Amino acid sequence: MYTNIITEIDLGVGIITLNRPERHNAFDAALIGELSAAIDLMAAEPAVRVLVISSTGKSFCAGADLNWMKSAAGYSSEENLRDARGLAEMLRRLAQCPKPTIARVQGPAYGGGVGLVACCDVAIATFDAQFSLTEVRLGLIPAVISPHVIAAIGERYARRYMLTAERFSAAEAYRIGLIHELVTDDAALDEAVGEIVDALLKNGPGALAECKELIAAVAWKPLSPDVIEDTAQRITRLRASAEGREGMTAFLEKRKPRWIAQG
Ligand code: COA
Repeated sequence: MYTNIITEIDLGVGIITLNRPERHNAFDAALIGELSAAIDLMAAEPAVRVLVISSTGKSFCAGADLNWMKSAAGYSSEENLRDARGLAEMLRRLAQCPKPTIARVQGPAYGGGVGLVACCDVAIATFDAQFSLTEVRLGLIPAVISPHVIAAIGERYARRYMLTAERFSAAEAYRIGLIHELVTDDAALDEAVGEIVDALLKNGPGALAECKELIAAVAWKPLSPDVIEDTAQRITRLRASAEGREGMTAFLEKRKPRWIAQG
């Protein structure tokens, strides 16, 4: 089984907990491999309707393991590239997971840790969380995380924080849109995550997957005839789907749709 993460599934919620606290949950090849495998399993598991990314220890995630990064520098260029693709691919899997994802952030999230937060659909943090895109300070660049981070905070703030590598507070992360909600402590974090989970569990599972694809398809595109046609095609398909029909019928019949636990 896994040695760097803990996974559990409970009442529709899949939780992947980074569990390498002695290295502040820094990514090495083993952690990346386990995360990729667990994200795939959660994505395919019908019992999982929402995925939460959590962590043990003092930090949410200290980004790439610098011992791993340093040893990759000694690989052949092909091996070096394969290794880098592993991290890029893990982040893609998380960003494109068909289930909604929530980052439960406490403590520092640096480098790839910011990437992990940015890949999630919803991010909630405690006030003690701290963020930094430290890569340039190490003579590196935030390459594989950049599409996700720029999608989350926009080019303007990416320019500042990717170039300065300054540490920024949870309040600043909230202000620039990396974090959606700030809470005081761990108990409040669990409560806030629980509220988001409850909201998500009310929604059609198929609609959520389709909605994520819709956002990815439409974001940043000019309002061209192709985009307009694509959106019309999508709603045409969804309102004729079994889930769409059930959702509308349930509303009109003043009952819960079948995907919500009855009672
Ligand atoms: N890669 C490898 N090891 C790391 C690591 C990383 N990204 N981040 C922390 N560690 C290790 C430290 O080297 C240290 O190891 P040691 O006990 O063998 O000396 C151990 O974790 C504890 O770290 P330390 O810095 O003493 O703890 P701290 O509580 O003072 O600070 C951090 C924690 C996460 C804020 C700090 O370690 C840090 O800034 N890490 C670098 C994060 C980073 O820049 N990541 C981006 C990489 S691209």
